[in-house]
Amino acid sequence: MSNKSIGLSDDLQEYLLDVSLRESDVMRRLRVETMSHPQADMQIAPEQAQFFQLLLQLMDARRTIEVGVFTGYSALAVAEVLPEDGRITALDISEEYTAVARRYWEEAGVADKIDLRIAPAQESLAHLLETENLAASYDFAFIDADKSNYPIYYEHCLRLVRPGGLIALDNTFRDGRVAQPDIEEESVQVVHDLNKAIHSDDRVDISMLPLADGVTLARKR
Ligand SMILES: C[S@@+](CC[C@H](N)C(=O)[O-])C[C@H]1O[C@@H](n2cnc3c(N)ncnc32)[C@H](O)[C@@H]1O
Repeated sequence: MSNKSIGLSDDLQEYLLDVSLRESDVMRRLRVETMSHPQADMQIAPEQAQFFQLLLQLMDARRTIEVGVFTGYSALAVAEVLPEDGRITALDISEEYTAVARRYWEEAGVADKIDLRIAPAQESLAHLLETENLAASYDFAFIDADKSNYPIYYEHCLRLVRPGGLIALDNTFRDGRVAQPDIEEESVQVVHDLNKAIHSDDRVDISMLPLADGVTLARKR
């Protein structure tokens, strides 16, 4: 995983941020605090967060799901551009990681937009579908949790987003390991198989972006 764009030289990465990053002060402080976390590379790249903000604005998104919150950087980016009545359903299993997120969401004044649910994401997604009957009611879903469950998250999110809604999957390059001829790690194989399945999935229009660690966009038909 990586929180900078794969394949860019350090100079070009720095240039990209210098001439294009428009990050709020609270997002910058959260990103910097997370950089000293032992799992810092789980945080998405700032240019990726800004790209999602632009997408959500283009879509007039109001309802989003996030699968994998960590210290809250991507959810904060989304919350910043949602309208006042916009809502994020944010799923994670870690009280510890998301305690940092809650602190920054409060500080940014967006905590009311974020419904954080601490449970295995598979259970939370099933609850949204089967108990809360929220199929086809979300505009956007961002999948960024444990890679072995990506196929399940993808299928659930495909039911949860409306036709015309968008799913973004993070880390679809797995640091380039998906392209190696002999994939040894099971979770890399899972993402590689899902990449191939999405390629031929006629329920969605797709684009696989060489942004950060690979971001696949799938628009529900
Ligand atoms: C890559 S991080 C998310 C990064 C976040 N999107 C950001 O921008 O900072 C992955 C997160 O998934 C969570 N996670 C791992 N397995 C999970 C599961 N089975 N259900 C829900 N969350 C899970 C971890 O606790 C971790 O916070």
